[in-house]
Order: sequence, then C-alpha cells, then structure tokens
Amino acid sequence: MNDSAAATAASCDAAGDLAGRHVVLGLTGGIACYKAAELTRELAKAGATVQVVMTEAAEQFITAVTMQALSNRPVLTSQWDAREPNNMAHINLTRVADAVLVAPASADFIAKLAQGRADELLSLACLARPIERCALLVAPAMNREMWAHPATRRNVAQIAADGAVVLGPAAGDQACGEVGDGRMLEAHELRDELIAFFQPNVLAGRRVLVTAGPTYEPIDPVRGITNLSSGKMGFAIARAAAEAGAEVTLVAGPVALATPRGVRRVDVHTARQMHDAVLPLAPRHDVFVATAAVADWRPAQAAERKLKKADGHATPTIAMAENPDILADVARLPGAPYCVGFAAESHDLAKHAREKRERKGVPLIVGNIGPSTFGRDDNALLLVDAVGEREMPRGPKLALARALVREIAQRLPVKDPR
Ligand code: CTP
Repeated sequence: MNDSAAATAASCDAAGDLAGRHVVLGLTGGIACYKAAELTRELAKAGATVQVVMTEAAEQFITAVTMQALSNRPVLTSQWDAREPNNMAHINLTRVADAVLVAPASADFIAKLAQGRADELLSLACLARPIERCALLVAPAMNREMWAHPATRRNVAQIAADGAVVLGPAAGDQACGEVGDGRMLEAHELRDELIAFFQPNVLAGRRVLVTAGPTYEPIDPVRGITNLSSGKMGFAIARAAAEAGAEVTLVAGPVALATPRGVRRVDVHTARQMHDAVLPLAPRHDVFVATAAVADWRPAQAAERKLKKADGHATPTIAMAENPDILADVARLPGAPYCVGFAAESHDLAKHAREKRERKGVPLIVGNIGPSTFGRDDNALLLVDAVGEREMPRGPKLALARALVREIAQRLPVKDPR
C-alpha cells in the first residue's frame, strides 16, 4: 500500500477518535509547515478542535490565512494580541487544551524549550502550560546534520526528560536534497500518534504477539488454497495493543494492509511458516492473540512446476495434509502467554466458541460470524471465558479492538516486578 492509500485507509479509521479533544497546534519555522495544513484537516476530521499558533518564522513558510481556514479559528501569532480580553493568550491557550502539538518543531524551537525560554507566544504558552494535564508533543523537522548535532541531541534528551513526547523524526529525502534523519512525520502519522497518546495505557510494560490474515498453501507455483480473511481485525488489535502501551509483534499472512505504527511485523505465507515464526516468539510474550484464519490443510506435496491442462492430464486430485494448530501448540508451551483465540463461525456461535475454548485449552475465545465481517470495517464479537459469555455489539473493528484490549488487560495476572 502506498503512502496516500495508507493515509486514506487510516483516515477512515480515525473518525471520532479525537472527539472532544482540544489541541493547540504550534508551527515553527521549517519547510515541513506544508504538512501542518494537512495535519490540521486530519485532526479536525478525527473530531478535535484545533487552535493554531504560529511563530514569526513559521509565517515565512505558510500563511495564517490557510491555517485559519483549515482550523476554522483565528490563528494566534503574537503574545501582544489585543483580541484576548485579558491580553494573556499564553495562559488562556493551554488552560482549555488537552495537548500542545508542535509540528514542525525546528532545532531552534527545541533549543528554546530545553532552556525554558519564552520570548514569543508559542514558547511562552509551552512554558506556561499546566504540565500535569496538558501534554506537550513535539514533532522535529530539520536537516539531518542539525538533527545529528550534539547540541540538538542534548536538547531533545532534555525536553524528553522534562516530559515532552518526541514524535519521530523519520528518515528519508529532505527538502535540501540530502537524505537522512530529520523529516517530520506525515500528517496521518502524527494524527495517529496523538490518538494513541490519549488511549489508556492498560498494556504498558506488556509484550503482545498477534497473528493476522489468511495463510496461503501452494498447490503449484501459481495456484494455492487460502481462507477468507482481510486481516483487518488482527491489524486493529495490534494497533490497539500498541496504543495501550504494549510492545507488539504482528505475524501476518499475505494481506495488503499498512503496518500499524510502532508494531514489529513478520510476514509469512503458509501455516507452517506462521507456526515456525510464532512458536519461538511466544514464550517471550505476555499475551498471544490468534486472529489469523489459518488453513487447516495444505496440499501434501506442492508441485515444483505449474500443473498444465494441456498435457492431457485428468483433473488432478490433490492429497492434503493437516497443518499444525498454532494456537493449541502455543497454549501447551511451558510458561505460555495468556492465549486469546478467535472463532470465525457461520452458525451456532456461542456453542462453537465454547467448544473451541475447551479444545484449544485457552482462557478466552472471541467469536464472530465470519460471513458478516469478512473484508468489512465493522464486526460484532462474543467473548467466551471460564466465567461466561459477553457480547460486544457491532461497531468499527478498531473500536472493538480497543475494547477487547481492555478486556484482555483486566484478565492478565499481575506482573512479577522482578
Ligand atoms: N488456529 C491456529 N492454527 C490453526 C488453526 C486455527 O492457530 N491451524 C487458531 C485461529 O487463529 C483461531 C482459532 O485457532 O484463533 C480457531 O480457528 P478456527 O479455524 O475457527 O478453528 P479450527 O480449530 O480450525 O476449527 P474449525 O475449522 O473446525 O471450526
């Protein structure tokens, strides 16, 4: 998936995720100001209200007119702005804000933050914000040499130690023609970082392993057997777990989905490859969520060359072999993680989910009706554990994934502090 397709897919997911949030978006001097326009739209589309503050340098790169039109609010550029009834814009700004996001943050502005200087409105507002309830998120954007300079390294470490959340930067082509670290994250990435920042950290310090998507079992080099699965539910769970503060590894079958930010991804094709990837990783994880639609059988012998009709062969009969059951094998491991299985059924959901829970030896099974969710962005879940059953009504997969992550977090044994 290319960047713009990923952004489009992601922007559908984000609707309402920042509802009720008020964000002060600070722009400082840098070419990356062009991304701030898109960022404003993304934040607004996700439901946030956005108050833009620009430094004098930022106004060299993008106009306040553009930012006002996109944010639907007058832009603040000066601490002497007489429109504020009490003439204290630097105080008023953050008393009503949930976060200040400085994007782009220049090397000079980061240096100011590190020193607690406050000689213009944005740095003044950052310093005057109530630290405990108005977060400061900073998205650096600068030339790679500036980013690598010991002074910048020092300043970035200092603002992080003071509680700022540093987002990125990314590596890649730079406006100056050089290539390296220092590119500001893309607008949709910053939006997702902000959404993640506001999620409860219920899996902080935990490691989560997720399987997702179908597997593909080759018949010959051009044909194979697979299962219906878009991977969307598993990817949503990986994203939700990462948002909740977990370190997440996603073992994915062949799907065309963008990797959620902060998630480590391992791509596989066959059930046996998925089994080989998962089993050694599982004991190092606290939670294993098996959403993959693993093919139960594979052609016993994949042909090395394409089977040809023209050779006068009769319709081939394909001998099948059973694939390993990844979930059941993980659940049997000594020191197994907390295992969550999925049951995609066509009928008698509760009955099959209960039986599957027993058969696989796992504490929690999440049931869903396959044909009414395959490929869609919504789903409805039935949670079956030792205590009983609980329905999660139809909703967006990401919302369900976040709710499921909270359910899983509540069921985990308290972590041994050693
Ligand atoms: N699963 C797995 N490895 C397999 C088959 C299934 O890890 N070889 C996992 C799935 O990821 C899911 C759960 O087991 O979490 C249930 O998968 P499902 O295909 O519904 O169950 P099966 O055991 O294959 O039972 P059946 O096909 O008869 O319903």
